[in-house]
Amino acid sequence: MHSVELPVEALPSQPWVQRLLPKRLWSQALLIQCVSMLLMTGLAPGVINSVFAFELRSLGIRLDSVWFWLFPHICVVSVLAIAARMPVWWRWIHVIFPVAVIFMQQVALPATVYFAGFVITLALYWSVHNTRVPFYPSFPSTWRAMHHILEQHADDHSLKVLDIGSGIGDLAMFLAKQRIHDQVSGIEIAPLPWAVSAVRALFSGTSVTFTLGDYRSINFAELDVVFAYLSPAVMQDVWQKVQQEMRPGCLFVTSEFPVPDVVAEHIVFPSAHSPALYVYLKK
Ligand SMILES: C[S@@+](CC[C@H](N)C(=O)[O-])C[C@H]1O[C@@H](n2cnc3c(N)ncnc32)[C@H](O)[C@@H]1O
Repeated sequence: MHSVELPVEALPSQPWVQRLLPKRLWSQALLIQCVSMLLMTGLAPGVINSVFAFELRSLGIRLDSVWFWLFPHICVVSVLAIAARMPVWWRWIHVIFPVAVIFMQQVALPATVYFAGFVITLALYWSVHNTRVPFYPSFPSTWRAMHHILEQHADDHSLKVLDIGSGIGDLAMFLAKQRIHDQVSGIEIAPLPWAVSAVRALFSGTSVTFTLGDYRSINFAELDVVFAYLSPAVMQDVWQKVQQEMRPGCLFVTSEFPVPDVVAEHIVFPSAHSPALYVYLKK
């Protein structure tokens, strides 16, 4: 089983730093960066200039270089992020982003490159602010395990299978190739991954189909198997839909993120490095 990292709010004793910070992680991060930048631009130059200026100049270190101020900035934001008990990946963001910003400023790329990056990111992540599920692909071992689950469930019948949030279509296309009599489809809300999956489907030599849309607006009643690789934030809502709409005897399979407080019928471990599959049988 995976170890589950507790949300920041659930940690037993909250340090004073955390009580001072806003609840949302992104606003905590922004505040920490601003506090450190204020320190660097206000307090630190005066102190360093008066105390260490001679030593630093004799070492050939230029106090007017932005790279020089980056190091103490990174130290301060890291200490604050650790004190605030931000998750590990946020601590890395605190370090990497300021370096990236200054590096990109010095490289001085044309504005069109940033615009292209913005458009690609928008098309890839689209309404993540609303769905709370970003794009990241599943693993081939997950596809194989899912195929095995279908083989066991089908018992020689053909199945209607839907991948809710099908990304670039890997899982659905794999299943459609292995089980040619099944009706396999995917629904994806973000235009770029959907367009990639739709083009790939044309050349896949299978009957797989991909729809651009929101799985929350379709009915699961006609489906025999629903597969999800989404995020912990939505599992409760998806489960409610499964309970209300799917027929008894049908399967709901979720990769990595189990339904909270519901015991799965089976837990399948596709490989040592890929996440578990939680299999729920609709009663
Ligand atoms: C973690 S990816 C999984 C991709 C794919 N199922 C796979 O196994 O490779 C989740 C995908 O769900 C999509 N998604 C999130 N919320 C959605 C929604 N409400 N309706 C349709 N797609 C959604 C995201 O855009 C993202 O591409």
